[in-house]
Amino acid sequence: MKTGIIGSGSMGTGIAQVAATAGHEVVLYDNNSAALGRARKSLQKVLARLVEKGKLEQKESAAILGRISFVDSMYAYQDTRLIIEAIVENLEIKKAVFEQVEDIVPNDCIMATNTSSLSVASIAAACKDPSRVIGIHFFNPAPLMQLVEIIPAVQTSAATLERSIGLIRSCGKTTVVAKDTPGFIVNRVARPFYGEALRILEEGLADAPTVDWAMTELGGFRMGPFALMDYIGHDVNYTVTETVFQSFYYDPRYKPSFTQKRLMEAGWLGRKTGRGFYDYREGAQNPEPTKDKKLGKQILWRILVMLINEAADALYLNIASRDDIELAMTKGVNYPKGLLQWADEKGINHCVATLGRLHAEYLEGRYRCSPLLRRMAREGRRFFQ
Ligand SMILES: NC(=O)c1ccc[n+]([C@@H]2O[C@H](COP(=O)([O-])OP(=O)(O)OC[C@H]3O[C@@H](n4cnc5c(N)ncnc54)[C@H](O)[C@@H]3O)[C@@H](O)[C@H]2O)c1
Repeated sequence: MKTGIIGSGSMGTGIAQVAATAGHEVVLYDNNSAALGRARKSLQKVLARLVEKGKLEQKESAAILGRISFVDSMYAYQDTRLIIEAIVENLEIKKAVFEQVEDIVPNDCIMATNTSSLSVASIAAACKDPSRVIGIHFFNPAPLMQLVEIIPAVQTSAATLERSIGLIRSCGKTTVVAKDTPGFIVNRVARPFYGEALRILEEGLADAPTVDWAMTELGGFRMGPFALMDYIGHDVNYTVTETVFQSFYYDPRYKPSFTQKRLMEAGWLGRKTGRGFYDYREGAQNPEPTKDKKLGKQILWRILVMLINEAADALYLNIASRDDIELAMTKGVNYPKGLLQWADEKGINHCVATLGRLHAEYLEGRYRCSPLLRRMAREGRRFFQ
């Protein structure tokens, strides 16, 4: 199995490691030789660390590296069966690259894009045979994150979808299939985790440490929304929110926050710049959470019910199957529980009533309840029997 990867940035390098570890011959290409050099060094370092930790034999590490060739020409893709593109997130550049690659690879080679936010259909449209183009969306860091979203475009053939799922599963990953819509599953369903937390902060209901405490201590999430936004970086997280908002024709549900925008404009990008919602500079003191259980429960439920509503709506609109939505949120962003299972436990009626109260209070479209939840409440149904 020979796999070509286009772009040796953080994603391309991680995907190369995954494929080579699974036994693929990997051809890693970048049009920037410095980026190729960095990829080689970073892979050597990561593999050496795995050997040090006893997770990999020295022999295996050498074999994995030996299976990756670092090339400066796409002509090395001539006998590949799978191509995964992980270059800059720019539609015009991606289309030009797909057009070029199609003339080099064999006719039965699958051509995949790792895009996070562009439409797979528009990338496929650049090719003479769009039926072999598909989205294969890894999460960062690719070697550690278990989930991969597979996104067939309208043009993608059933055979391409089936082969792609098989190939990615044979690399030891868990796959879910998502419709070619903005944010696919994870980046769509997770929006309220940030958005509703920001809204709670803006309304002055609680400060960042208190919201984070409620979500981690009472909700079991690994990180609170503010700590997580600081970790991801406000430039990245804000841009994803804004892109999703624009792509959904300005649906108020995905409206970005000025609070986060100002942090980005100030250059307070989070951990990487030493300041974000929290102060990471040496000796800095951050406020303690108000450990008020009643308030904490209110915060947790308000964010959770918005997440549940988003997951239910994704199911209602056939973005993915029930089980894939649950897998995506537990394996892709490590939520403590699937959101639909959580909805059952809390009670569908309770979810509908809370969303109804929020909507009546704010008169904003962001709080509208998914028709699926309302219908289920009426019929007394649950997501899992
Ligand atoms: N970073 C993430 O968290 C993440 C997660 C999932 C998906 N993605 C997606 O993966 C893709 C890559 O993201 P990244 O974070 O690895 O970016 P990156 O900036 O780290 O790497 C991009 C690489 O592509 C190379 N490149 C640019 N134009 C090229 C061209 N025409 N031909 C060959 N190489 C070219 C650059 O030299 C660079 O090395 C994007 O589509 C992004 O949306 C990113």
